[in-house]
Amino acid sequence: MNPLNHVAIIMDGNGRWGLRYKKSRNAGHKAGLSTVEKIIKETIKHKIKFLTLYAFSTENWRRPKKEINYLFSLLENFLLNKIDDLNNKKIKLKIIGLKNFSKKLNKLLNDSEKKTFKNSKLQINLALNYGSKSELINAFRNLKKSKKKINEKNFKKYLQTNEIPDPDLLIRTGNTKRLSNFLLWQLAYSEIFFEKKLWPDFNERDYNRVIKNYKQIKRNFGNI
Ligand code: IPE
Ligand code: IPE
Ligand code: MG
Repeated sequence: MNPLNHVAIIMDGNGRWGLRYKKSRNAGHKAGLSTVEKIIKETIKHKIKFLTLYAFSTENWRRPKKEINYLFSLLENFLLNKIDDLNNKKIKLKIIGLKNFSKKLNKLLNDSEKKTFKNSKLQINLALNYGSKSELINAFRNLKKSKKKINEKNFKKYLQTNEIPDPDLLIRTGNTKRLSNFLLWQLAYSEIFFEKKLWPDFNERDYNRVIKNYKQIKRNFGNI
């Protein structure tokens, strides 16, 4: 059975779900947040140590302002209401991506990270304003500046996922088979599951089925 230490998820399909069942994309985002809570609980049950959630990409700024504002208001309320709960559950929150939001949101994110910094039951990496290509370019730039030898080990230190093991498993919901600029380096050897269900419909049973299937895969890493 394969060990499972890190799950990454591209939580896709909120907008379509909202339009299909509630007549607005934003309603889908709200419903998607309930799935996030369910999956966090389930991740703890499985004793998985890292959960990386793609919440907002650098490309998502192309969306209408109304939708972007709604997404960030959901995030803000979530942190304000749930950070103590996460902290009590010994969850550590880390943001990956560029934190260049409003002063108020930047502070809330920093405070949330600080508050939970010492926790070690589960680390949640929230990818926010995250784009893998810009992460890679920055890493190259900084490695070059450091004058250190250019090799994998040194390069990895300049990624935002420094100190986080690579994902064993990537799940993308929403019936779309692409990576959308997510963790291009880190996913080099991850097992990838593309799920048909839209994120708000994805549930514990679906998650458990993926995990069960993942555990039975023969992982070669180039070997035979
Ligand atoms: C959620 O799904 C992902 C976010 C950017 C928050 P989408 O909003 O992309 O939903 P679809 O793909 O349009 O259905
Ligand atoms: C990927 O979903 C980003 C997040 C889940 C945050 P998108 O819905 O933005 O991806 P594309 O644009 O369809 O590739
Ligand atoms: Mg989408």
